[in-house]
Amino acid sequence: MTTSPAGALVRRPSFKRPITPDDVPHPISCGPPLMAVRIVAFSGNTHRPSRTRALVEAVATEVARLRNVDLKIFDLVDAGTGIAVASRDALPLPAARIVEAIEGADALIVGSPVYKGAYSGLFKHLIDFVHPEALVGKPVVLAATGGGPRHALVVEHALRPLFGFFSAQTVPTSVYAGDTEIVDGRVSDAIVLERVARAAAELDVLLDLDLRQSDPRIAAAR
Ligand SMILES: Cc1cc2nc3c(=O)[nH]c(=O)nc-3n(C[C@H](O)[C@H](O)[C@H](O)COP(=O)(O)O)c2cc1C
Repeated sequence: MTTSPAGALVRRPSFKRPITPDDVPHPISCGPPLMAVRIVAFSGNTHRPSRTRALVEAVATEVARLRNVDLKIFDLVDAGTGIAVASRDALPLPAARIVEAIEGADALIVGSPVYKGAYSGLFKHLIDFVHPEALVGKPVVLAATGGGPRHALVVEHALRPLFGFFSAQTVPTSVYAGDTEIVDGRVSDAIVLERVARAAAELDVLLDLDLRQSDPRIAAAR
């Protein structure tokens, strides 16, 4: 990021060479690219199959039912190995591409497995590379999965403050599933499904409000 003669903030590409589609191991992508809202779903799972990814996909599917979306779903497996670096410039290209996608999306669906009562360290590590102003006003659904019901509030006391740092617009309804509530890669619990639908509907409303248009920080970064 530098300052132009007119004083406006100008983004500089932080990578040594242009990233090509071949650098990324095929995220799930659906929906026509034109006129569609760009939704990026990011799940902090490190292995597949993953309940966190299944939960994030459930929210994404519900949002896609409500409006025309250009949907990309990533997880930490897509980021590849070697993300334990200290600077964004040193990120492997697949991981850098995910950070770029998160920054460029119109809205996000993010989820993490609960590790030791919080989001996973690697999930946070990748989010740490997101530019501090890239998510201002961006609508975000928050999701998490855990080994049981006890840590459902991790979404509220860990994920929500993290996205509060970014001044993102997190939807009021968070989504959490314990070990018995996702079976064979599908949300099987009626209450979780109800919250998935409510969170998706709230994201849909926030996308219509589009508060980002009027935020001076967004205008400055463009
Ligand atoms: C290192 C580690 C720490 C964990 N800590 C917790 C925890 O504090 N609370 C909890 O409910 N589950 C905990 N779990 C269980 C995972 O959150 C749970 O299995 C999760 O659904 C896994 O998601 P995934 O299938 O997307 O990887 C932990 C699992 C691991 C591997």
